[in-house]
Amino acid sequence: MTGGGDAPGLNGVIRAVTTKCVEDYGYEVVGLKRGWKSLLDPEPDTVMPLGVDDVRYILQEGGTILGSSRTNPYKNEGDAEKVVGQMEDFGVDALVAIGGDDTLGVAKRLHDDFGVQVVGCPKTIDNDLSATDTTFGYDTAVSIATDAIDKLRTTARSHERVVVVEVMGRHAGWITWGAGLASAANVTLIPEVEPDLDEITRIFEERAAKGEKWGLVAVSEGVTFSEDFVTQSGEKDEFGHVRLGGVAEGLAGEIEERTGIETRHVVLGHLQRGGTPTAFDRILSTRYGLRAAEAVKSGEWGKMVALRGNDIVTVDLSEATDETKTVPGDLYQDLRTFFG
Ligand code: F6P
Repeated sequence: MTGGGDAPGLNGVIRAVTTKCVEDYGYEVVGLKRGWKSLLDPEPDTVMPLGVDDVRYILQEGGTILGSSRTNPYKNEGDAEKVVGQMEDFGVDALVAIGGDDTLGVAKRLHDDFGVQVVGCPKTIDNDLSATDTTFGYDTAVSIATDAIDKLRTTARSHERVVVVEVMGRHAGWITWGAGLASAANVTLIPEVEPDLDEITRIFEERAAKGEKWGLVAVSEGVTFSEDFVTQSGEKDEFGHVRLGGVAEGLAGEIEERTGIETRHVVLGHLQRGGTPTAFDRILSTRYGLRAAEAVKSGEWGKMVALRGNDIVTVDLSEATDETKTVPGDLYQDLRTFFG
């Protein structure tokens, strides 16, 4: 089952779990479609039988053949019990839950509260899960954002404009940090560090004084200039997250007003989650899937597969979900060396 926002590499995990479980262990494998909704509010096509031939060619495909949702079985009383009952009705003995902190948080609670036999697999383009060095999807998202900023550089320079690029990342600025570094953006702003508008103004004024009346800013969607997030609407999803969006537009207006340099904005949005996974994410998702299958075989319930150094290990699900992994101050400081 895949839950939450999709991430390139999900199909790699599905392929590896299925192939290992069928070929090596002789298990019957099914996919449950649309995240936790599959067990709370099933549809006729919810249970998708998976054989080796069904997953043979999906490694290089983005998205997830199982679909996803942000359904939260702990939002309404009694729903978690329904999920457990539905799992029994489907005859599912063990569940591999592939997701980020929301999906894995539910998996942990189902394991703790009802003894559900679950193994977690960490997914998110945001790279904000503790207990693993990295999640699959992150490398692809950074590559896409880097490529976009590289492309914006040529046009920004030709037209003597500043371009502010909005990158995904609610509480953790990992994608922005990575893309800002790799694309040599002139300024990179992440949610972990309060932005200084005077400093940003000074940077672009100094560049203009040297004849460089253009530049690139990479900004995480979760950067706040006052107390609150910049949002598209006040509406919240089932895990209580508001829909972010708009910080780049506001910042672009501010830079233009303060510096007099024409400033535009671009929101990368879901482009960062789309398309084919990088080789790194294909390899990582495959290794996660194989290890998750082994964890099912050995009954490591309530555990999550994780990358530590070059090894795939298992850790308690709680280790992954207790704390959001944010960008450490020294890594951001490294990046600041290149501001300007
Ligand atoms: O969790 C991954 C993520 O892409 C975040 O970076 C982003 O804030 C959010 O999902 C967007 O979610 P949705 O696809 O529901 O708009």
